[in-house]
Amino acid sequence: MTAPTDVPIAPDARLHVATHGSAAEPGATGRAGAKAILLGEHAVVYGRPAIAIPVRALGVEAHARPATGPGRLSSTLYHGPIAQAPDRLNVTLTAMRAALAAAGKPDAALDISIDSSVPAERGLGSSAAVSAAVIEAVLGACGLTADDETMHELIQTAERAAHGAPSGLDARTVRARAAVWFDGGRIEPVAVGDDLVFVIADTGVRGRTREAVAAVAERRESDPRRVESALDELGELATALRDDVSTGARDAIGRSMSRAHVLLNGLGVGDPALDHLVHAATAGGALGAKLTGGGRGGCVLALARDAASAHDLSDRLTRAGAAAVWTTTVEGAA
Ligand code: PMV
Repeated sequence: MTAPTDVPIAPDARLHVATHGSAAEPGATGRAGAKAILLGEHAVVYGRPAIAIPVRALGVEAHARPATGPGRLSSTLYHGPIAQAPDRLNVTLTAMRAALAAAGKPDAALDISIDSSVPAERGLGSSAAVSAAVIEAVLGACGLTADDETMHELIQTAERAAHGAPSGLDARTVRARAAVWFDGGRIEPVAVGDDLVFVIADTGVRGRTREAVAAVAERRESDPRRVESALDELGELATALRDDVSTGARDAIGRSMSRAHVLLNGLGVGDPALDHLVHAATAGGALGAKLTGGGRGGCVLALARDAASAHDLSDRLTRAGAAAVWTTTVEGAA
């Protein structure tokens, strides 16, 4: 293959000329996956650690190629000229523009298509996953790849358009392939002692991350002692959970998850639909269950005892009214 050599690389971006692809076949693909926060949402915004897991069943694929006329976007939300895309695509467009600016081609016209199975606004990292896939595709269409830190910064630029001051957890984890520990803005792998089978159930109610993050900030202003103590406890639970995950202590993991749900409700980010599914999960044999992501809607994450009980748990959650149910396994060391 011949790598394009005429690509102006912005001086401060750590971008590299792609070593794959073909100039004869212009265009590139970017991919990212969904994530679920096992423990630490909201607390992570205030410097506490968190653990997140990839949700392999759900992902985003974006394709970008030079346009022959004005650039067009094709996704389930919109088909048409990029210049006329509606406001709700602001995050995606911010991602595209950030990547083009980093490539030193702010005015390049691209045709971009996005195929996503990650439900939007359900706390599963849809905005970060779409941004990550679009950025990778756009850079690829310019003949470039980015190192991890540059990718992270570009995704964060788009995430800021989604909800103000994102912790960076979503931006990091939508590109991770295994469970990750997030602390101080960085991730590291989490040792997993034994397979953990999770069921994710969608309330069908849109999560409202921006609103939920603002609500926690307000509560922290008005009642700092109570909120700080809840955030501290969430941080301690995440730390304990890391050990429990490494030893495969399922019952303890489940208990920490259920306690986190209570604490998150106390922070004002719960929703009756989330409580309903959390109760249905526990009644259906889950070892623990909690909301996952920003809250105020979105999804519940439940820990099943094993793969067979995950099946029963999924049925139970569907019967309880879940709009969709997915199973995801975090694989332990063999
Ligand atoms: O709802 P999601 O998938 O965007 O997750 C938000 C996680 C928060 O901790 C609430 C916010 C953040 O920036 O980490």
